[in-house]
Amino acid sequence: MNTEIDKKVDSLLKLMTIEEKVGQMNQYNGFWDVTGPAPEGGSAEKKYEHLRNGWVGSMLTVRGAKEVRAVQKIAVEETRLGIPLIIGFDVIHGYKTLSPIPLAEAASWDLKAIEKSASVAAAEASASGINWTFGPMVDIGRDARWGRVMEGAGEDPFLGSLIAQARVKGFQGDDLSAVNTIAACAKHFAAYGFAEAGKEYNTVDIGTSTLHNIVLPPFKAAAEAGVRTFMNSFNELNGVPVTGSSYLQRDILKGEWGFNGFVVSDWASINEMISWGHAKDKREAAKIAAIAGSDMDMEGNVYVEELAQLVKDGVVEEAILDDAVSRILKVKFELGLFDDPYKYCDETREKEVIGSKKHREAVLDMAKKSIVLLKNKNNLLPLKKEGQKIALIGALASDKSSPLGSWRIASDDETAVSVLEGMQKYTGNSVNYVKGPDVALETTTFLHEVKLNTKDTSGLEEAVTAAKSSDVVVMVLGEYGFQTGEGRSRTNLQLPGVQQELLEAVYKVNPNIVLVLNNGRPLAISWADEHIPAIVEAWQLGTETGNAVAEVLYGDYNPSGKLPMTFPRNVGQVPIYYNYKNTGRPVDKDDNVFWSHYVDVDKTPLYPFGHGLSYTSFEYSDLKLNASTFSISDEVQVSVTVTNTGKVEGKEVVQLYIRDLVGSITRPVKELKAFEMITLQPGVSKTVNFVLNKEALGFYNNDGKYVIESGDFKVFLGGSSDTVLEADFTLE
Ligand code: BGC
Repeated sequence: MNTEIDKKVDSLLKLMTIEEKVGQMNQYNGFWDVTGPAPEGGSAEKKYEHLRNGWVGSMLTVRGAKEVRAVQKIAVEETRLGIPLIIGFDVIHGYKTLSPIPLAEAASWDLKAIEKSASVAAAEASASGINWTFGPMVDIGRDARWGRVMEGAGEDPFLGSLIAQARVKGFQGDDLSAVNTIAACAKHFAAYGFAEAGKEYNTVDIGTSTLHNIVLPPFKAAAEAGVRTFMNSFNELNGVPVTGSSYLQRDILKGEWGFNGFVVSDWASINEMISWGHAKDKREAAKIAAIAGSDMDMEGNVYVEELAQLVKDGVVEEAILDDAVSRILKVKFELGLFDDPYKYCDETREKEVIGSKKHREAVLDMAKKSIVLLKNKNNLLPLKKEGQKIALIGALASDKSSPLGSWRIASDDETAVSVLEGMQKYTGNSVNYVKGPDVALETTTFLHEVKLNTKDTSGLEEAVTAAKSSDVVVMVLGEYGFQTGEGRSRTNLQLPGVQQELLEAVYKVNPNIVLVLNNGRPLAISWADEHIPAIVEAWQLGTETGNAVAEVLYGDYNPSGKLPMTFPRNVGQVPIYYNYKNTGRPVDKDDNVFWSHYVDVDKTPLYPFGHGLSYTSFEYSDLKLNASTFSISDEVQVSVTVTNTGKVEGKEVVQLYIRDLVGSITRPVKELKAFEMITLQPGVSKTVNFVLNKEALGFYNNDGKYVIESGDFKVFLGGSSDTVLEADFTLE
């Protein structure tokens, strides 16, 4: 199909020299300070010189309407062809007004809300000169040790695919050329989330089945939703750094999936192929990456240094450049940058849009929907608005930065509503707050490791004293804001520092504790689960954190979140996920040790995938199928009745899982295939209908082909992956 844009791209390409083509394939790091020195050293003029020479097709980390206009002006007015820059930025969970971290948003299972949240982020970023985000991250995460699970949608490929699509739609809208939409980027292609032992940047060695059935589906879904760019990744996959993988980028992405946008490398990941021992020098790295289909070099400068010569030497065909540049120019045309290169550089709009009331309301709504009630023994929650003496304990409760989470480069520190502030609104400032020991020893930045307080317990006694004289103690504990994100793998998933000691000390004097968790990954909190009556998973909820938490604690918002990732009992169980394989020895049959388990911990997780309670209760009944035998062309219709058996209105995510009992490739014990969110008044029942078509019943075989095999299946229904009802059917 030769569209108007394709024709324009072709004619522009014909005018370009090899050097100009290579320039379009170079993404230059601006460090958002356009007047400061060039990233690789030297004066600001050097930075401009790169731009003037046409060596730069894109910049990243430049932001602000004024700053972007300044660099765009050079590209448009001072280069021979005047090709505008595409401006990339990590808009991961909001720009200035922050939404919950992506893992938290995933816990909402609310696709409309997630889409909305991405559109708010796009509106703010685009008002600040940015027209391309490096998101969504669609890596499946099964290993809580990996710090980047906070950026994704959790462990499940089905939920992950739907969320990937919602985020792409939210960022890109219906019209990429609109002034409030930006190009999205599905990253990190592929398998970055499977870093061995959860260690950042580590080797990935997974089989074809996991690659096709678990890792790739969310990427494919993003491509189908029209995502305009992909980012490759730092990891290798089965011995080949993915930045240099023709199999992934050319065969699968641009071949099988027909993706016609462009691929950007991850930050200098082309150069990193040298350290991996896959390329001997920059020249070879540039050659491998370009041939493999990495269209743009993020920050590594190897394309500008090597690629033109490689073409002149006949090592890389010019057609490779033409393909890459056409893809990049196409997206620039789609964004409308050729019509008006300054369309995202309106300082008035920037002032109006960023931090608007509307945006704060949207992120508050998202924050409430992201909260998961993990436990609520004897209905300790909700708190009473009057007549209950409450102590609030924990350094994180008054922290106004940690709740913003990681990956919030454009936002300002200390701008979150803290839990303390949120609760004070309800109690007319009468909440008795005692900070207790610090979580971190000093303020940390995105670039540096968090120095945890592992010794100093000052403040603990005061906390214990306050707890003694209170009816209920709310304790806000968990991870410091920068304990997750890139470069933040952990081997210990317990409450960091001296917080466990604090929790146990308070418990001794007052067991009526509501534990509010702040964290960017599943934590191993077995002790708390055993002893603490109420546990609320409040993640890092962004700008409106405290308001969202207070509304839930005081019962003005009934929580409905469900875990997008399994919580382990201890770190030794990790990776742990609901869709595991049965193994040949799934249960202890003969009272001996020879079955698949650990001898020192229960086989089950602490909280399963999909788990989340409400202030009301739901009962599932009447699971029905429209037949018990189906042919491949039939739809399997499933219905179930859900009743609100509690006293208040509540929302429930009704979850449908299947199991394909026998497969040519073994199948997981459960696979999520559908879900629906319903709202029910107390005492009211609703029949929820699902339709499974054949697409839902198949899987990828080891040749990467999607197959549907006849045989027996089970259907499971419930409010978590630990389902309550099941039925059987046969596919003939
Ligand atoms: C990360 C990417 C990010 C890029 C640009 C890299 O270190 O892996 O996810 O988009 O930096 O900031």
